[in-house]
Amino acid sequence: MKGSVAFILVFVALSQATFVQQFEKLNRARNNFDGKIWAVVVAGSNGYYNYRHQADTCHAYQVLRNHGIPDEQIVVMMYDDVANSEENPTPGILINHPNGPDVYKGVPKDYTGKDVTPENFLNVLTGNSRAMLGTGSGKVIKSGPNDHVFVYFADHGAPGLIAFPTSELYKNDLNNAIETMHQRKRYKQLVLYVEACESGSMFDNLLKTDINVFATTAANPSESSYACYFDEKRKTYLGDRYSVSWLEDSDNENIEMETLHKQYEVTKKKTNTSHVMQYGDTTISHEIVGFFQGEKPSALNNAPLPPIYDDVPSPDVPIHILQRKIELATSHDDKLKYKVLLEKEQEIRRRISWTVKTIAFHSTEGDKELTELTTLSKPSLNDMECYKAAVQEFDNTCFELDDFEYGYRQIFVLGNLCDAGIPVEKIMSSIRIICH
Ligand SMILES: *[C@@H]1O[C@H](CO)[C@@H](O)[C@H](O)[C@H]1NC(C)=O
Repeated sequence: MKGSVAFILVFVALSQATFVQQFEKLNRARNNFDGKIWAVVVAGSNGYYNYRHQADTCHAYQVLRNHGIPDEQIVVMMYDDVANSEENPTPGILINHPNGPDVYKGVPKDYTGKDVTPENFLNVLTGNSRAMLGTGSGKVIKSGPNDHVFVYFADHGAPGLIAFPTSELYKNDLNNAIETMHQRKRYKQLVLYVEACESGSMFDNLLKTDINVFATTAANPSESSYACYFDEKRKTYLGDRYSVSWLEDSDNENIEMETLHKQYEVTKKKTNTSHVMQYGDTTISHEIVGFFQGEKPSALNNAPLPPIYDDVPSPDVPIHILQRKIELATSHDDKLKYKVLLEKEQEIRRRISWTVKTIAFHSTEGDKELTELTTLSKPSLNDMECYKAAVQEFDNTCFELDDFEYGYRQIFVLGNLCDAGIPVEKIMSSIRIICH
């Protein structure tokens, strides 16, 4: 009798252990992930008024780090001119919410300043360490067939491109790089989160659904993304709506359990100013967030930050900052100074719109109707080479896009001229004539 009780107890204990093992095995098998996680996080802008992009990016780094991804597997690209800008009242500190912690501390400076380029980004992503030798930290993603890759990007965008500090990354170059990575078996699954205006246009009708890639974007192919969290002390926006939505979700949720799909739904719900989109292989979104942002439970135990809704379209940030500065100015001289700057900004915007429209008028040999059409809808960008060349010429000859970001709001007209079948040489010569 005693013997059989002992036998039953041992049996129960054994089967429980087996059950746990089986359960863990099942869990592993379901997700089938025992590789490494690699990440690239990029802020594509510079300038203090673009504070938010570097704050978002630093925050993304902190999420990955808090969840146990070692620095060797994270590459950070940011201009790094904001934390120690003389405009920053808290030197060496960046925050991503008015009540949030410093996100700048400990961020590796892999590639800063002029090293933040689309070419370097693609070399880092595709693991081309030879190309990066002698540049920045030289760190690249050394991912293999069992590994996961996570990419986060925050900056300005326009149809078919995302901006870097002094040039642009075009949608076909990004998608080609990803396809090459797939062919070379450089990942098991790859996830991209992209914050930019018209960010959906980077993947729409382009990102393949059978190469194990899942992407979400802050906006659909034809709308702005939105900045948020204006800070009166720092006199700038601290975050972008889509970005802070997923970042705060990763800070507060148990990402070892939450799926990418759930995070997408939460982010989509919180981002009520633009349309958060998903592209690629959506079956990947049933995977656990932690398999891309770090599997270790975060040691942080902060209460969720209070919600603040003060979203403004990203392209209008310079205007809103100046308007707030006028409101907040304590002296008459300061008020006047900011009013003059605001008037100047509005004048530049009028000049840029006028210039683009005049280029369209000239390219179409004075066809008023066609000119009007090219200024109305977003382009489909069937001829990327034409678009690229026209944007480049506009950047060289008319307005440098990194200094005149409003240009990103207008270059869609150049895309429409290409779509209308106007030869690229004609568009380029019109640009040179108008902007000479
Ligand atoms: C977005 O949601 C917040 C919180 O529910 C709300 O306060 C805000 O007015 C909403 N904004 C828009 C544009 O609907």
